[in-house]
Amino acid sequence: MDSRRTVSIIGTGAYLPEKVVTNRDLESIVETSDDWIYSRTGMRERRIAAEGQATSDLGAEAARKALADAGIGAEELDLVIVATLSPDMFFPSTACFVQEKIGAKKAYCYDLGAACSGFLYALDTAKNQIASGAVDTALVIGAEKMSAFIDWQDRSTCILFGDGAGAAVLRAGGTGRGVMESVMGSDGSLANLLWTPGGGSRNPISHELVDQRQQYLKMEGREVFKHAVVRMGDAVVQVLEKNGVSADDVKCFIPHQANIRIIDAISKRLGVADRMYTNVEKYANTSSAALAIALDEAVKDGTVQNGDLVALTVFGGGFTWGANLLEWNKP
Ligand code: UT7
Repeated sequence: MDSRRTVSIIGTGAYLPEKVVTNRDLESIVETSDDWIYSRTGMRERRIAAEGQATSDLGAEAARKALADAGIGAEELDLVIVATLSPDMFFPSTACFVQEKIGAKKAYCYDLGAACSGFLYALDTAKNQIASGAVDTALVIGAEKMSAFIDWQDRSTCILFGDGAGAAVLRAGGTGRGVMESVMGSDGSLANLLWTPGGGSRNPISHELVDQRQQYLKMEGREVFKHAVVRMGDAVVQVLEKNGVSADDVKCFIPHQANIRIIDAISKRLGVADRMYTNVEKYANTSSAALAIALDEAVKDGTVQNGDLVALTVFGGGFTWGANLLEWNKP
């Protein structure tokens, strides 16, 4: 049990770009089919950002909704963390661009890189900053414009991802346990199974690199799938134990939305299929935004209500993974 300050989520928000791209639309871009995509992934459609819309634009929209939901102004924020693997630029941070857009003048701002696990890592980081007394109010955002970093000629990856953003406002205080303890892990020995190899300091941008399409996300899907099932399932078991809670006590399980078959395998292992939240059908895999969007939807549609225990779990490139428990206590 954390003896430091209680930390509560006092507002959530999500933003999905207007443009819907269905599986059928993808049939005209790469050799694929609605049937293949739906049966292998559970995805029907995804949202794609408009031209000129950057990750910080998506993040700022989600942030505005989360702040309105929390009933506070951006000037009250002490800290803004943006989890993303598709930043506006290498630097400055996407968080600084969001700060400017929403007017979070007194906040300090930075990005956090943990690929698809980023929102949970950022939630845990902000929670600990608040619990320790370092700050009082934080905004955590998961935002991605995946469409800018996937290879639209690679059918094994381009069908999987979508754009979007989700946000949560965290504040010291509140009844109940609020944001509880996390478990997190990483395994850098498997980095090459899911990465964007080109464009950074290892392989700087060059005409040759672009010709080889190395600036785009690459994934060994089958391997990633196996690790995702095991790591997310283990993380949930461990986080329940760490917080002294049983799976029966949890009202809603919200996993990273990468593939319905991954989610089904975890549900089966934990015996919680009736309480597993999914929206992968509508938005596909929005990387670090997925968990944040799903949490916002689960709260807004009434699946999660005050007093409920909610288990979150994620898996992504790195590899990175984790789980967290929330006792939902929005004021
Ligand atoms: O967010 C980070 C975490 N990411 C994930 O968790 C993703 C994990 N992986 C997956 O979700 C799945 O592995 C995929 C959906 C990516 C792929 O499903 P799979 O059942 O593992 O298929 P596969 O990669 O083994 O490919 C099966 C076949 C291959 O053909 P052959 O070699 O059997 O003839 C592929 O070439 O399906 C082919 N294929 C496609 N066919 C139609 C691959 N992509 C497509 C496609 N449309 N889009």
